[in-house]
Amino acid sequence: MISNAQRPAALVDDPKLDRYRVLVAQAALFRGCSQGALDDLVRRLQIRTRLQGSLIVAQDEPGDAMFLIAQGRVKVALFGENGRELTLSTLGPGEFFGEMSLIDSRPRSANVVALDDTTVLALTRDAFSAHLKAHPQTAMNIISELTARLRRADETIASLALHDVESRLVRTLERLAREEGESADAVGLVLRKRPTQQDLANMVGSCRETISRTFTSMIKRGLVVPRGRALVLTRQLLDRLSPGPATAAAL
Ligand code: CMP
Repeated sequence: MISNAQRPAALVDDPKLDRYRVLVAQAALFRGCSQGALDDLVRRLQIRTRLQGSLIVAQDEPGDAMFLIAQGRVKVALFGENGRELTLSTLGPGEFFGEMSLIDSRPRSANVVALDDTTVLALTRDAFSAHLKAHPQTAMNIISELTARLRRADETIASLALHDVESRLVRTLERLAREEGESADAVGLVLRKRPTQQDLANMVGSCRETISRTFTSMIKRGLVVPRGRALVLTRQLLDRLSPGPATAAAL
């Protein structure tokens, strides 16, 4: 039996209700929902808070809810038997996860780990189904996001198969800089918060030692310039990437 301390809080009891209401209304997942549908959702959502580093969803376990991120970032990752990890995606406020098990009734496809102290709004399987039946627009929104995730997964597969570690690393750094909101200076594109070498290894499907060696070599060749926690990706480096709108727009 669940004690009151363990029971997830219902959104209607929370003092931050108005903030969550705005979050739900602005989430791409619920784009196109009427005010009535949004109010109904807010009544059904439950708040769950998780500390940095905790496992929110465990791969291969059954899934009974999906989650909208209210605060903090999470990573979606696969853990290999040899201790290696592959980060599939990093998600933040307004984004969702945990929908796949609700759609196909199969176990969780990946692990989801809190990168910060995180608050998620959980929608149980029954509430998710009831909402979808009444609001098919949400199903279209989910299809649209799943399509975007498939496109990114295609890019990842191509990158793993076709590019070496240095090229994958450069592409990842450039994408992270773009996601941070791009700031360029005279030297190049600035990545303000450089992830750890282990995190980068997990993102590019390599190991920390190889990333460390690759970084040292790129610094020696003047392709990247460390600046404290920041890293500058030089123009020379970005010019080597196949021409893409992001690089062109950034510089
Ligand atoms: P589910 O399988 O229920 O639990 C794990 C969740 O991770 C999954 O639903 C998706 O929400 C999310 N997920 C799995 N693969 C990816 C991916 N490639 N990109 C982004 N999110 C993913």
